[in-house]
Amino acid sequence: MKLVHTISEARNIIKEWKKEGLTVGLVPTMGYLHDGHKSLIDRAVKENDRVVVSIFVNPIQFGQNEDLSVYPRDINRDTELCEKAGANLIFNPEPSEMYASNFSTYVDAGTPEHELCGKSRPIHFRGVCTVVSKLLHVATPDKAYFGQKDAQQIAVVRRMVRDLNIDSEIISCPIVRESDGLAKSSRNVYLSADERKAATILHKALTEGENMVKAGEKDCSKIIAKVSNIINTEPLAKIDYVQVVSYPNIEVIDKIEGSILTAVAVYIGKTRLIDNFIIE
Ligand code: PAF
Repeated sequence: MKLVHTISEARNIIKEWKKEGLTVGLVPTMGYLHDGHKSLIDRAVKENDRVVVSIFVNPIQFGQNEDLSVYPRDINRDTELCEKAGANLIFNPEPSEMYASNFSTYVDAGTPEHELCGKSRPIHFRGVCTVVSKLLHVATPDKAYFGQKDAQQIAVVRRMVRDLNIDSEIISCPIVRESDGLAKSSRNVYLSADERKAATILHKALTEGENMVKAGEKDCSKIIAKVSNIINTEPLAKIDYVQVVSYPNIEVIDKIEGSILTAVAVYIGKTRLIDNFIIE
């Protein structure tokens, strides 16, 4: 496995693979890899001849008061995990390699950006779309792998790929959870012991909501109320949003019809966690 820091090094290696007719999978990450990322790499290894993992904490998807400066990083541990999982290349650029000092071209995916996380993190998806389109241009993968924990991100990226005719398939992989149901996230390391216990409330609440939908409840406001009430029983939890939207269009709906996404963002102490369920 190779670790490279520049776009030209990554491109040269990938071009050689392509000349040989090999298929390429890309797993875009911000590093501090956990079992959720590993499940994406495992799937990419199964489905492609060569796998690239990008590790880049993308500054332009963080708002001014967000956690960019403290976002956890451990390239040595990440390298080991990628190597063991069978990845072939890590692309780990510096911000200056990705963004020239007069960088000024952004990708804005429009409507599906505006609900859910887009409301509380206004520039977030513009940053995600911009960096993902750049990574897709560098790696030109046949397939790129994303976790369903960021369900809105997948919808936004799929829309961008369709709209801009980018020739890569976007693959959504299931949420990987801790044994008590907490969705794996690099941000879980911010949680104190008490907060870590409190954080299980997200999955508990969503499971109740999912059961309601499966039992035939069609009224979104009742599902939102149930999920919110359960989260509010946890004193350390502060809801950012609980919402039901159409999926993948990400439009707020009143009645359950077709595919839906129920998503939550909750502050546990200072840490903002997200989780969701999708019903097709
Ligand atoms: O999901 C993430 O870790 C990031 O948003 C991504 C897709 C790597 C873009 O920076």
